[in-house]
Amino acid sequence: CGIVGVLGRIEAAPRIVDSLKRLEYRGYDSAGVATLVDGALVRRRAEGKLRNLEAVLEITPLKGTSGIGHTRWATHGAPTVSNAHPHQAGSVAVVHNGIIENFLELREEIVEAGAVLETDTDTEVVAHLINLALLKGLSAQDAVAAVLPRLKGAFALAMLFAGEDDLLIGARKGSPLAIGHGEGEMFLGSDAIALSPFTDRITYLEEGDWAVITRSGARIFDRGNQPVERPEAKSAVTSNLMDKGNYKHFMAKEIHEQPEVLGHTLSRYFDYSTNQARVAGAEHLNFKNLSRLIVTACGTAYLAGLVSKYWFEKYARLPVDIDIASEFRYRETPVSGQDTALFISQSGETADTLASLRYCKEAGAAIGAIVNVPESTIAREADMVFPTIAGPEIGVASTKAFTCQLAVLAALALQAGRERGVLSAEKERELVAELTEVPSLALKALAAESDIVKLALPLSKADNALYLGRATSYPLALEGALKLKELSYIHAEGYAAGELKHGPIALIDENMPVFVIAPHDAIFEKTVSNMQEVAARGGRIVLITDARGASESGNAAENVVIMPEMSDIVAPIIYALPVQLIAYHTAVFMGTDVDQPRNLAKSVTVE
Ligand code: G6P
Repeated sequence: CGIVGVLGRIEAAPRIVDSLKRLEYRGYDSAGVATLVDGALVRRRAEGKLRNLEAVLEITPLKGTSGIGHTRWATHGAPTVSNAHPHQAGSVAVVHNGIIENFLELREEIVEAGAVLETDTDTEVVAHLINLALLKGLSAQDAVAAVLPRLKGAFALAMLFAGEDDLLIGARKGSPLAIGHGEGEMFLGSDAIALSPFTDRITYLEEGDWAVITRSGARIFDRGNQPVERPEAKSAVTSNLMDKGNYKHFMAKEIHEQPEVLGHTLSRYFDYSTNQARVAGAEHLNFKNLSRLIVTACGTAYLAGLVSKYWFEKYARLPVDIDIASEFRYRETPVSGQDTALFISQSGETADTLASLRYCKEAGAAIGAIVNVPESTIAREADMVFPTIAGPEIGVASTKAFTCQLAVLAALALQAGRERGVLSAEKERELVAELTEVPSLALKALAAESDIVKLALPLSKADNALYLGRATSYPLALEGALKLKELSYIHAEGYAAGELKHGPIALIDENMPVFVIAPHDAIFEKTVSNMQEVAARGGRIVLITDARGASESGNAAENVVIMPEMSDIVAPIIYALPVQLIAYHTAVFMGTDVDQPRNLAKSVTVE
């Protein structure tokens, strides 16, 4: 999941661990380092958190000024020490992000050639292929050049060679990799954050590139092994270790940052002097002439997209085709040069989202990206980038990035409505005026936290939960269930409230907590009817609504979380906050690893 490589002048292992710490937020389940000690490759690896690797290094320190390191998120093979990277075969050690799809076939070939495999990983296969090439007498560079074209799938690799103290080789295909330039030192990293302790001078490798790095510089080759020049950029990532402030978890900090970061994001996309959406670059999306808009993303970002479908269709009369990126990319959906496709991603690196972007780009569509990491691959490959100004999001479960994605999408929907001539200037002014209230409404919503803490304790003892909502509260019901699952490991499902009677109502009994998300809007009464259906079957209801909703909901709900009153367009942004807090506090009661839930990764660069 995270890669670092160092050709330095001082001991490499502590620097590698320092860099890996900055990548911890991406989620991982084992870690390792290899350095060159008197020309020989020496490795230290550990299961679980980085502190375990640090403990190993304390007992058996690693010398050497050249090294590679890795945090691993298991794909092939369990998260054990022997499956942890770096993997070594003879005189090469390899760290790898991504998946080598043809590894079974390659493994057979290697075994036939007499290699003995120690692990279940696809990475070890790469190490063996390179070692076999070295054994045939090829130089390190020629061995890599010969092996890379044989690897199918998406990957980033960093390689260290025995006896070659001034050599690192890196390669990228599908997963990001960047070179860091120091003074008489050179570095490799999976992103600018990994490189931040060493340098802010960065060269991003492009798709298919690989690089031969020595302390005096890097030579970069494209996929056809032709030398290429790639520009050096100055990274804006700070070298400070991310800090939780006064909060127990990054997630709590990020939830509470929302009033502020929503303010930043909204003020970038709305002109408050005229109360209009003012999205720079939106003209490239061609809203005026579109017959439909394609929206694609994964996870929580997908749910932001789902909210936007309601907005684009209602305020801009623009039909939205939305899909999960892992489905979209293989659906062979017709896309043409007349289309516009929007991709939403916090990290800007999600493999499926990136592949979907490339699919649309190849078909000639105009590409817009809503990303939180401005230097990410998706940002670099899109025609137009609409950044969320949420600041670094460290908690694996997305919170502030989600609500900031909604803020950007609201602006795009209103802009589209105006450009398509279906949103009157007056209506737009009214909606924008409502959106200016978001930061203060978000603050008020956070005031419900103490009530939510009380609900979280009984919820932490439940085995299942349901979330219901209609219209834009439906994607929020999905988000509520997703958050609860990922943070507290309690099984939860989100449903469109009207769909309940078509199956899931069979699940309702007196042990089933049911969260009903229902701002007092035009369809409030419909949702209340669905709530009554749950109550009639003994379900235990928590209603999230405003004071008017509470007074008009009868007595079906066992508990009510009161939100401030607000207009329709604002509601999905603000109602996200109680939904996040419910999952957060339940997880805290359960004692789970809130910022890095088991099995999850922040930046999923594999399919
Ligand atoms: C991971 C994270 C989710 C996130 C999803 C999409 O699965 O755990 O919180 O929503 O990836 O990530 P992206 O960076 O593309 O928004």
